[in-house]
Amino acid sequence: MYLRLFSIFILFGLTSALSMSVMAQDKKEQLIEESNYTTQDLIDVYHKIDKLFNLKEHDYDEDIGDEINQVCAGCHEEFGMGGKDGKYPRIAGLPVKYILEQVVLFRERKRPNIPMLQHVEERELPNDELIDVAIYLNKIKLRNRLSKVDETAPDFDAYARLQEAKATLQIGLAEGDIKQGKKIYRKECKSCHGKQGEGDDDRTPLLAGQYTRYLWHQIDMFINGKRLHDIDDPEEEFFKSFSHEELRDVLAYISTLDD
Ligand code: HEC
Ligand code: HEC
Repeated sequence: MYLRLFSIFILFGLTSALSMSVMAQDKKEQLIEESNYTTQDLIDVYHKIDKLFNLKEHDYDEDIGDEINQVCAGCHEEFGMGGKDGKYPRIAGLPVKYILEQVVLFRERKRPNIPMLQHVEERELPNDELIDVAIYLNKIKLRNRLSKVDETAPDFDAYARLQEAKATLQIGLAEGDIKQGKKIYRKECKSCHGKQGEGDDDRTPLLAGQYTRYLWHQIDMFINGKRLHDIDDPEEEFFKSFSHEELRDVLAYISTLDD
């Protein structure tokens, strides 16, 4: 009797787990489907940003920025450094406007990002708080290397050391011809992304200190029309004009810029 009841429970558990995963799969497919957009859709979103956010008159609240960042930290880590080899990109130090734009693109299903969606819907994250966290993240300065300390010294502070390590970039060198990559970078990317890959204060993201795997993934999306690289020249086929080898070399060079 007990055994039978038990097996009914198991069966019930199994079928509901199965139907839940089917539902999750359906939802995922639906979201990917919705992520198809026209160039015009994207341009519309970009132009909407200025109407949605009044950056100039925003009264920055650091505590709210810090509080919201705890949510982001679930994936992007405490200091916005990202992780899992770029599955979660670095977001610390990105331009405020760029962060706002990308979050709105995610919200509007114009840039695919299923894991993040539920955390940034407007009812979860009102625009005022989104501005606070964008400014908060923009202000985080990550270190390029750990300071030299004597870990055997009596006053060595293990906790402080751990916190420092969490705010120190560790982007490995990517494979490729760095010298060749530097030439291409200087000629083709520097004018917008900056001499040291630092991005700008407006809406051009940094490339230095970003995970190579993540950058590759984004270039794939630009090539496949899932993202728009240059709204002023939407029909451009910028990345298609480079060979795989050239792109590899540029990314190899970029991976040296945070050292
Ligand atoms: C559940 C995991 C998760 C959480 C929580 C999360 N994100 Fe993300 N986020 C991602 C993933 C995954 C990507 C990369 C998407 C891709 O590969 O294109 C991303 C990308 C981004 C990007 C684009 C970075 C770039 O260089 O283009 C921004 C900006 C961003 N997240 C901001 C935030 C903010 C702000 C929060 C907190 C309010 C947050 N994220 C919370 C998973 C998450
Ligand atoms: C005309 C200015 C311009 C030039 C030149 C340019 N970029 Fe960009 N790039 C941008 C802007 C603006 C964005 C942000 C696009 C957006 O809003 O989604 C961007 C985004 C990117 C991203 C996505 C970064 C992220 O965090 O998601 C990558 C990767 C990238 N560019 C690589 C390159 C490389 C490599 C070159 C040179 C071969 C290059 N770009 C040249 C303006 C430029």
